[in-house]
Amino acid sequence: MSIDRRLAELIPSPSREPTSLNGATFYALLAPGKRFRPMLTLLCAEAFGAPPGKAMDVACAMEMVHAASLILDDLPSMDDARMRRGRPTTHREFGEAQAILASVGLLNQAFASIAGAEALPLALRAQISGALAQAVGFHGLVAGQALDLQDRDRQRTPEEIDALNHQKTGVLMIAAAESGALIGGASPAACAEIGEFARRLGLAFQIRDDLIDAEDSTELAGKDTGKDAAMTTWVSAVGARKAAAAMEGHLDEAEAALVRAGCDGRLGRFARSLFMGRKAAA
Ligand code: IPE
Ligand code: IPE
Ligand code: MG
Ligand code: MG
Ligand code: MG
Repeated sequence: MSIDRRLAELIPSPSREPTSLNGATFYALLAPGKRFRPMLTLLCAEAFGAPPGKAMDVACAMEMVHAASLILDDLPSMDDARMRRGRPTTHREFGEAQAILASVGLLNQAFASIAGAEALPLALRAQISGALAQAVGFHGLVAGQALDLQDRDRQRTPEEIDALNHQKTGVLMIAAAESGALIGGASPAACAEIGEFARRLGLAFQIRDDLIDAEDSTELAGKDTGKDAAMTTWVSAVGARKAAAAMEGHLDEAEAALVRAGCDGRLGRFARSLFMGRKAAA
């Protein structure tokens, strides 16, 4: 079954129950995104020998958290964005109140999806839920987003930028990858390497995103660009060329961690493929 089909099954259907909340939830979750986080979960599980489908509901939970974070990120009180995934942002289409409630609903459904993942032992569901809660919460994505919005006009050091990028973007990637590895039955040592792979990937991913913000049109990106002009990113701090070099450095380290984990095949190719076009442009 495809990720999108399972995502649609896990939320209320707006055609059967046509409320604004259900419409906004479906609109935000099923919009055409890359599905990078759920793919990470599925490919990490596969890399350690999990049968197809075993990690699907956990993978969907990762996308639900991500979609919830995008709804909030776009709100007028946050990045005040007009476009997302080639469409008007959820709050522009459904109003702010319904958008916020859809985000809260998606966050909760993410944990419900893990709790209900019948293919997994209960102890593993509890472990993954705990790790995801940490990744979203007060030391994770939510804290990263709060930091991102704070003191935007203050110049950040490269170390501070990396710490911010790790919190707002990296921790969810780590949760997505590690939970896949756990489902596949990876050893603690291999899980740690997968964590390092995803940490590096998260850092590279946010630099790539900041290059898109600085260099691409809204039409090409499918979302507002030029939004980071008022804050420090790798791109504004050292320029696009050096930022792209830093991104490459993280990708090399990510690949090295995968090799150490013994699973650099399909997973490695998938991770690299996302960065191809950007490398050439930068
Ligand atoms: C955008 O994530 C937000 C960041 C963390 C940089 P993606 O680039 O994965 O967005 P979609 O899911 O493909 O729309
Ligand atoms: C957002 O970073 C990270 C999230 C946790 C959503 P950005 O604000 O740069 O993401 P985009 O560029 O709006 O997708
Ligand atoms: Mg933001
Ligand atoms: Mg944003
Ligand atoms: Mg961005």
